[in-house]
Amino acid sequence: MIKNFIVSPSLLATDPLNFGRDVKMLEDAGAKWFHVDCMDGTFVPNFSFGYSTVSALRKFTDRVLDVHLMIDRPIRYVDHYIKAGADYLTIHVEADSEENTLKALELIKSKGIKCGISIKPKTPVSAIEKYLPILDLVLVMTVEPGFGGQSFMQDMMPKLNELKTLVDKVNPSCHIQVDGGIDVNTAKICKENGANVFVAGSACLKAEDKKAFITTIEQ
Ligand code: DX5
Ligand code: ZN
Repeated sequence: MIKNFIVSPSLLATDPLNFGRDVKMLEDAGAKWFHVDCMDGTFVPNFSFGYSTVSALRKFTDRVLDVHLMIDRPIRYVDHYIKAGADYLTIHVEADSEENTLKALELIKSKGIKCGISIKPKTPVSAIEKYLPILDLVLVMTVEPGFGGQSFMQDMMPKLNELKTLVDKVNPSCHIQVDGGIDVNTAKICKENGANVFVAGSACLKAEDKKAFITTIEQ
């Protein structure tokens, strides 16, 4: 199964006072997806975007909105994010019981939205195995979630490899996404270990030539 390589710039690294300008700049640089980090101050020790930002983005851009929910018991809010216009809605497997996680995924799918599950660095691949047949995306965190600008954890590569083998067997069209410390070099390492969607915050926004940054990773 050939999957395209996609860069999903993380809007967490944009300038809050020039948000629209930065989104437009990334569009002009060829971004096809936008990664929107939503944090609740409980699941992770930080706050970021909420569904009102997703809704504003939906009116502003036709690119894919890849929403990463770092919130506790996401089932309480998935409906808001669906209505706001997310295209991909990714929840964390550590954020609720198995029963609620499954319910949240089914709810997302029933509304025709793509669903994803993310795992933190200490969570094994086995934690998502049972959901894999219905998933559109699995996100392997390559930093502890909560903050941009952290260093890439290369020790996540065996886990990425293990996931790739499983995805190829169970659900080959499912995207494998990495998030945290991704730049041109670390993206290459992740590509070799099975990832096809690359979230990049600081490195992408700091790149002098954003178009070159995106095309280099996507080729
Ligand atoms: C961290 C977020 C990331 C973050 C990545 O919890 O999930 O999406 O924006 O930022 P960089 O690319 O700077 O590590
Ligand atoms: Zn993220």
